[in-house]
Amino acid sequence: MREILCFLLFLELFSQFNAFFGLRDGGNNVKKYEWYEERKTTRKCSFWKWGRCTKYVSEYKYSLKCETGWAVANIFSQDCDYAICDGKTDLNDACGISYSSDYQITRLGNVYHSGGSCSSPNVCTDCNHGFYSDGPYCRLCGTIDHCNYRRCTTSSNQHCEWCDGEITPNIYWRAYTRHLDNTKCQKACSWRTDSTRCYPGTCTNELASGCVCADNFSGTHCENIDNTPTIEYNHCKFSDNGGHNVLENDPNWVTTDHSTIWTNFAAYSSISVVETAKYLQPADNRNAQHYVKDFRVGVIEEKATLLYYKGSTYVSKQTKTCSGMNKNQPVDFKECSFSFNTWSFTHNDRVVAEFSSTNGGYVSVANRDASSTDSVKKTYYYSGQTLTREFEFHWDLENPYHCSVISGTSCTPFVNILDDLTEDPNLSFTWGGWSDDLAGLDHYEYDLFDLGVDGSMLIDGAGAGGSLVSSNKNVPITESSVSTSVPITESSVSTNVLITESSISASV
Ligand SMILES: *[C@@H]1O[C@H](CO)[C@@H](O)[C@H](O)[C@H]1NC(C)=O
Ligand SMILES: *[C@@H]1O[C@H](CO)[C@@H](O)[C@H](O)[C@H]1NC(C)=O
Repeated sequence: MREILCFLLFLELFSQFNAFFGLRDGGNNVKKYEWYEERKTTRKCSFWKWGRCTKYVSEYKYSLKCETGWAVANIFSQDCDYAICDGKTDLNDACGISYSSDYQITRLGNVYHSGGSCSSPNVCTDCNHGFYSDGPYCRLCGTIDHCNYRRCTTSSNQHCEWCDGEITPNIYWRAYTRHLDNTKCQKACSWRTDSTRCYPGTCTNELASGCVCADNFSGTHCENIDNTPTIEYNHCKFSDNGGHNVLENDPNWVTTDHSTIWTNFAAYSSISVVETAKYLQPADNRNAQHYVKDFRVGVIEEKATLLYYKGSTYVSKQTKTCSGMNKNQPVDFKECSFSFNTWSFTHNDRVVAEFSSTNGGYVSVANRDASSTDSVKKTYYYSGQTLTREFEFHWDLENPYHCSVISGTSCTPFVNILDDLTEDPNLSFTWGGWSDDLAGLDHYEYDLFDLGVDGSMLIDGAGAGGSLVSSNKNVPITESSVSTSVPITESSVSTNVLITESSISASV
């Protein structure tokens, strides 16, 4: 029991050390408490000498304590220099809060601790950047999506100092931007795959949401080419050894119609093809700051395919592609020549010549998250379009025929001269009844001869004595009569020969 009492006494002494050792009257935030105490004393009274009298003495007392909310540094402090914020002073991290999941990411490093100083009771000041004073604490500024480092002075007025992916505060150098409104980090067109590189295109206000692809480009990243290249020349030519017989399409035919070219000649010995295609890329007006480091689109493939059919039955094909072309080497324009092996053609064979050209290309994008010197790049490819054009070559090795060869049908005479014998130099003749099963009739031709006389025989044609007096190699297929004038001599006798031709445009 005695020890406990002793201990209590010691504590009491200790609690008054301020007064004993440190606090000075008039010190900072030192409050002085004063009072008088009556103390009872006894002494011998003068009366009766033997008596004792009780006397009351008034004693002045005071104590020094810190003002409420203030504290001393230690027991020897003379002043109460330390304000108390929620029970703590600057000596034991008043104001400070350590954050772990959300924190400030600054260019100089991450800041997890709010810092701050308790400058007066329950008032924190000098919070670290990114933290605001909230009475006895410094607290982390409110969040902003995609913001690394935000600052504020209250719990709600935060703005962003550094957005995620902002390598430098310049156009083309930030994945998120705050330059329009610094309370937000808005997704910018960038090198990131979750954004849009928007090339070729324009980013209105730098924003991914404002990406407008260049004409004829579409897709999130403008990676689709929507128009085809043009085939400017497509020529397929079949020739025989001496080059006397040639079968070819119109090389400048630029519509996509399937056109048919007829032939009645079988012995072609070579097939040559020439194709040119063109695709011009849109204006490339990047500057050196752009994350797109290289861009090229154009023609990336030219191809010719010959498909061989017997009637409607597919037999085989040959395909040739232009060498040296690929998606890494787009070109504006390219001429390609190919030669093909020929087939042994028979009646009703067909060759479909297919010309195609594809556009495409690439864009090389600097990954600025990975390197701010643009040393890390990635190549993306455009998805292009193919233009295909077809021509058909058709073998009709059977001659046109006249209805008179089919027995039992009534039939227009193949040629009919109105007056067999006449002195009128104006001759008229009519015809009809001609057909051609596959190709159809294209046009009529006639030759009109004077008959020659060989001894006692009349000779037809331009042989001995006979001579050509009138000819037309291109009578339209819609005609069925001709009136023509021939010179008449005394002994003139004329005959005419009508030939029909089958060819392409009469496939009626
Ligand atoms: C877009 O494609 C069309 C069709 O090919 C073409 O006429 C037009 O010129 C193209 N626009 C641009 C800007 O190249
Ligand atoms: C032949 O035809 C021409 C022109 O139609 C005409 O001028 C001429 O008189 C005709 N000749 C004869 C002999 O009828």
